[in-house]
Amino acid sequence: DEKGNIIGVVLVFHDIIERYEAEKKLQESEKRYRSLYEQALSGLYRSRISDGKILLANKIVADMLGYESVEELTKEFKFSEAYSPERRLELIRILEQEGTLTDFEIEVKKKDGGKIDLIISAKIYPEDGYIEGAMIDITERKHLEHQVRQAQKMESIGTLAGGIAHDFNNLLMGIQGYTSLILNDLNPGEDHYDKLKNIEKQVKRGAELSAQLLGFARGGKYDVKPTHINKLLKKSAEMFGRTKKEITIREKYAPDLWTVKVDRGQIEQVFLNLFINAWQAMPDAGDIYLETSNVVFSKSYTKPHEVKPGKYVRISVTDTGIGMDKETASRVFDPFFTTKGVGRGTGLGLASAYGIIKNHGGMIHVYSEKGQGSTFNIYLPAIDAKAEPISFHDEEEVKTGNEEAILLVDDEAIILDVGKEILDVLGYKVFLASGGNEAIEIYKENKDKIALVILDMVMPGMGGGETYKSLKSINPDIKVMLSSGYNLGGEAAEIMKQGVNDFIQKPFTMTKLSHKIRNILEKK
Ligand SMILES: Nc1ncnc2c1ncn2[C@@H]1O[C@H](COP(=O)(O)OP(=O)(O)OP(=O)(O)O)[C@@H](O)[C@H]1O
Ligand SMILES: [Mg+2]
Repeated sequence: DEKGNIIGVVLVFHDIIERYEAEKKLQESEKRYRSLYEQALSGLYRSRISDGKILLANKIVADMLGYESVEELTKEFKFSEAYSPERRLELIRILEQEGTLTDFEIEVKKKDGGKIDLIISAKIYPEDGYIEGAMIDITERKHLEHQVRQAQKMESIGTLAGGIAHDFNNLLMGIQGYTSLILNDLNPGEDHYDKLKNIEKQVKRGAELSAQLLGFARGGKYDVKPTHINKLLKKSAEMFGRTKKEITIREKYAPDLWTVKVDRGQIEQVFLNLFINAWQAMPDAGDIYLETSNVVFSKSYTKPHEVKPGKYVRISVTDTGIGMDKETASRVFDPFFTTKGVGRGTGLGLASAYGIIKNHGGMIHVYSEKGQGSTFNIYLPAIDAKAEPISFHDEEEVKTGNEEAILLVDDEAIILDVGKEILDVLGYKVFLASGGNEAIEIYKENKDKIALVILDMVMPGMGGGETYKSLKSINPDIKVMLSSGYNLGGEAAEIMKQGVNDFIQKPFTMTKLSHKIRNILEKK
């Protein structure tokens, strides 16, 4: 004041305290944000607009992109070099127009050159020349999504394929049946004998094609037996090797290989598909390496969407052929994917192999590089059981019956017609039923006469499964042979387990049927 007393000190002093406290608050809040930033679940970063150099980032970003530390990341990494140029332009364009960006999907190259998929949300600060954003790694999620889509696709095609194969096989059965009948009246060299043999060959090819379709149809597996895979593989390789002299087959089988439970016809089909592909990949000559071994998969290896942990038998088929690039390798199991041109490949071989192995609870993988050959690895779940022997040759001669009575049950008129004629010729008495109820009626009346029932699986109304149960309740010792073109949902396999005597796949020849019938009737 005018007297010279000092009065301002308190105010100044007060001011300092306020400033001190404000700074402390700021520091605390910065510390809070800092820890939020460091411990966030997503990667947070600030990058320069001009070249995408990372200025600031938390550890998560460094981890995602494969860098040792944030320091190394900020020193070396630039988005401009890690994104595809078009995608980066698109990202900047959106940011410049909108100011912010949410859930933008982009592929990024990591330090080691590997790729990951990210989702980015960001905000742009044009005056300061930088972008701030958050990123989440969705690589694994995308991979899973892809697998789920793949599985769904396979399933719907499988259903379709099963339906087609069923009708197709019944149709072929009609053609095969009548051809068998005419052939039975002719001797080799007589008029039309060769033409009829050619029809039979075509039917066989048709049946092979529908077997491929059945391969990736779900549940198309019936006739499973404990099997020594070494022996089955050896048999298939021998059959194949006989026709392809330019291919050298080298075998290395584990001597103590575990047993697997498989439909042998189907697994042979898988092997044959792999051999044919290998041969086609080695047009001049080459080697096929076959190897088997026992493996155990732990939980961490068998992801939930693949297979169960446990004991497996591995079968690997390697060729020294042309190999394939990544793009091709990723599509080989797709139905109808082929690089072989019209008329040469249908693209069903590996799709069917995939379906068959999947149906067996196993998996199949491919490893290949262009120009370096290919390896296919198959894993089949092992069981604790002794393998049953494998028969090596199909017999040629028809075996006739001794007037035993057989009840043939099928909903298709043509199968009943041709089936009756065949069984007549083979020397059996025949009862016919066009459905489950009729079959049960006839069986009740004639159960002392009927020695065997040949039962179709898929019938409208009362299906093969239900019919079998009813028949079995009439006579627990009844002899039944199941016959089918295909059945959906593994019903046939279910019934096979309940003690059906045998299974025959349509279309079949007279000879084959005659052998199967004798096998059942002569078994004590
Ligand atoms: N061992 C192999 N070496 C190189 N490429 C292969 C091999 N196996 C399969 N491929 C590739 O995978 C594609 C699909 O094979 P897949 O067996 O399913 O069909 P395909 O052989 O083309 O026809 P199909 O088997 O129906 O006659 C082939 O066209 C080929 O490009
Ligand atoms: Mg093929």
